[in-house]
Amino acid sequence: MKKIFLTGITGLVGRAFVTALSQDCGDDVKFVCLTRKSPVKSAYDRVKDMIKDQCEFDGIPEKFEAIMKNVEVVEGDITSMDPDALAKDPVLAGVNSIFHCAADVNLGKDLTGKTFNINYNGTERMVKLAKLVGAKEFHYVSTAYVAGKTVGRSMEARPTCNEFNNSYEESKCKAECMVRDCGIPYTIYRPAIITGRLSDGMVLKPLAFYRVLEFMAKLKSHHCAKEGISPVEEYDLKLHFNTIASKRVYFVPIDYVQLAITKLFQKEVCNQTYHVTGDSPVTVDMIERAICNVLRLKYMEISKTDSADLNKDSKMLERFIGDLFPYFSNDVIFDQTNVRKDLGDEALAWDYDVEKLEIMMRAFFIKNFKQVDWVSEILKYTEK
Ligand SMILES: NC(=O)c1ccc[n+]([C@@H]2O[C@H](COP(=O)([O-])OP(=O)(O)OC[C@H]3O[C@@H](n4cnc5c(N)ncnc54)[C@H](OP(=O)(O)O)[C@@H]3O)[C@@H](O)[C@H]2O)c1
Repeated sequence: MKKIFLTGITGLVGRAFVTALSQDCGDDVKFVCLTRKSPVKSAYDRVKDMIKDQCEFDGIPEKFEAIMKNVEVVEGDITSMDPDALAKDPVLAGVNSIFHCAADVNLGKDLTGKTFNINYNGTERMVKLAKLVGAKEFHYVSTAYVAGKTVGRSMEARPTCNEFNNSYEESKCKAECMVRDCGIPYTIYRPAIITGRLSDGMVLKPLAFYRVLEFMAKLKSHHCAKEGISPVEEYDLKLHFNTIASKRVYFVPIDYVQLAITKLFQKEVCNQTYHVTGDSPVTVDMIERAICNVLRLKYMEISKTDSADLNKDSKMLERFIGDLFPYFSNDVIFDQTNVRKDLGDEALAWDYDVEKLEIMMRAFFIKNFKQVDWVSEILKYTEK
């Protein structure tokens, strides 16, 4: 029986992992989850609500009670929890596995050091706790972007690059190395940019890339209102993305992330690292085409230029979502040797084409812009 001390259950990845592993292992797996409370909800109630939503999302609402029976919650924050005190908590008795997934996924400037503190110092506390409870294995959800500014092939091995785009990458890389060196057998999972599931594009928590969609929709709305034209019509935003257009953007659907991590978790733990990125990256041109089709926009310019030459909106775009630009301009290939060996080629037999990207984008707008009439109208109009 595995008793897992888990962080990040309220997040996109953590809750998907808990429901999928429970489906696979039933009562052979128990979870103790370190969770923060919110101003209006206890930590336990937050977990209950998230798992209920996830069960519905996974199409297994009837499994909710059975899964929750095996979930215990300890209220706490990874940056302030005291490993010595926590290790003595009777709820943790018998914990033999750690699944550390909590992180601050903010890609912007880390002026206060918050991202580094959560991702690095939080992991340090988790490693200490793992040792104190005598855990036999440490599972760490890292990121493919521990590769930093690597150009070319990045291997499923110890990161070698030490040039990073932001504090998030650096903190995750240093935390991953700490786990590698901690002396407890480990498995490292490295997802790329997580997007909606392949079948219908849905995602419970739209992060990172989805900010681009939100920005474009709001900008179109604003301009059309100012010019007195219907936003349902095709419109030229005259936007210039000041970045090199990558031929390899690693969008990875949440259903693949869920399946891959859950299956790999059940393998023998032997200091292995996995790129949970898929092997079919999309191009920036494909993304741009899909956005323009879904929102009825004219072609946008994507190329590196002098910032001084940009119009006002393009400068604003840079200010609001410039932290994402490195992920649309990088030239890295995430090697799949370990994933192929342990999951098989068939697990990687999926890809995004422009049509599937459109499904994913449409799903975002349907769920998050349902009160916005013109978006609903346009979605009807552009649906194939
Ligand atoms: N999303 C992606 O595209 C992506 C890509 C590559 C790698 N990853 C990695 O995947 C892992 C999971 O990320 P995610 O996508 O699930 O992000 P998420 O949805 O933002 O979830 C983050 C989780 O971490 C928890 N957390 C953050 N700070 C905490 C703290 N101080 N104490 C306790 N818990 C804290 C959050 O709890 P609250 O609900 O209380 O905030 C939440 O459960 C992370 O390690 C991330 O680096 C994600």
